[in-house]
Amino acid sequence: MPDPLLVPMRLGDLDLRNAIAMAPCTRCMSPDGIPTADVAAYYGRRAADGVGLVISEGTVISQRANGYPDVPGIFSEQQVEAWSRVTDAVHRGGGTMVCQIWHTGAYAHPRLNGGQASESPSGVSPEGYHSRLREPDGSPVPYAPSEPMGERRIREVIQDFRRAAAHAREAGFDGVEIHGAHTYLIDQFTNLNWNRRDDAWGGESRCRFAGEVAKVVVEELGSGRVLFRFSPYWSAGQRAWVKPAKTLPLLLSTLWEAGVRILHASSPSFDLPVIPVEALPEEKREVAQPDPEGKLPLHRATRLLWPGQLIGVGELSLDRARIALADEEIDVAAFGRALIANPRFVTRIREGKPLREYTPDMLMHLE
Ligand SMILES: Cc1cc2nc3c(=O)[nH]c(=O)nc-3n(C[C@H](O)[C@H](O)[C@H](O)COP(=O)(O)O)c2cc1C
Repeated sequence: MPDPLLVPMRLGDLDLRNAIAMAPCTRCMSPDGIPTADVAAYYGRRAADGVGLVISEGTVISQRANGYPDVPGIFSEQQVEAWSRVTDAVHRGGGTMVCQIWHTGAYAHPRLNGGQASESPSGVSPEGYHSRLREPDGSPVPYAPSEPMGERRIREVIQDFRRAAAHAREAGFDGVEIHGAHTYLIDQFTNLNWNRRDDAWGGESRCRFAGEVAKVVVEELGSGRVLFRFSPYWSAGQRAWVKPAKTLPLLLSTLWEAGVRILHASSPSFDLPVIPVEALPEEKREVAQPDPEGKLPLHRATRLLWPGQLIGVGELSLDRARIALADEEIDVAAFGRALIANPRFVTRIREGKPLREYTPDMLMHLE
């Protein structure tokens, strides 16, 4: 039987050489928001090695959207030009690449976004300290207070997403992935810990922002070139959805109506049970085989609710990924840390060689 990871497949309008995706991984190596020649070589190497789909690191849609040092943007001409050198490198390697478009919302910081206030649905600020900022004496920097977004600002940011999608096309990307995960702006609207609005963007309409962003991006690129990433559970506390059983079907039906057909369900660990079985219609609950606490892994719940295609991720071993693909739990398997650690990931799979273990010091340089 052929290796399910290595079988060519069609994801939306994209013809992929195989079912392996590079998950989006922020590298903080693009000074002034401009990807360098090293960034182009880094992605190009993985494409030349044979990765089916390369998803770029989170790429901010405006200066104000930025929350981390040296992350790339896709809002200026210079950035578009620099990205076109990256997509050229990937295409030369025979690969396909989408741009993950990102607004960090309350995680933005005036020290990183040109001195502007961070913005979020209801002015809730992240707990704790910024992971990448330090005072000159080495002490931690708290997150900045965020401003609640008014109607006008919401409309502007939706248009920023549209413009980012158009810029991605201009830069030669084959599509985009909307970053609706990990408690950044879109997920802050979806998550009731962050969205306390009682207007047409809150409560039962908390997924509307995700839907409106998706709609304009789909208008720009077509359904077959738009991925949407989401994450009901990224870590405990403020970053987890409050009502996953209600929110998951609500988000998925909103995205379907908006024209999204490809989801990238982000879970820290593929088999972690995080979705209460009540998220499913009654007739599907029995086949879903929940754990003793009545919970399902994100991908199983999503598969049972979503008629479109699905990318899976989260501590996937090669064998777990093969089973998930063969059993049609997912259509594409994404790998994050393993692809940072192994520029020759696909070659190693083909040759049956062991993968190099990821260690955080690998983030210090682009190999
Ligand atoms: C260094 C690093 C940077 C990441 N940056 C992003 C990002 O920009 N956007 C995103 O959606 N996820 C990001 N993630 C999450 C990964 O895409 C992936 O979901 C996660 O690492 C789990 O997959 P893995 O177990 O295969 O690494 C990042 C993860 C790591 C380790």
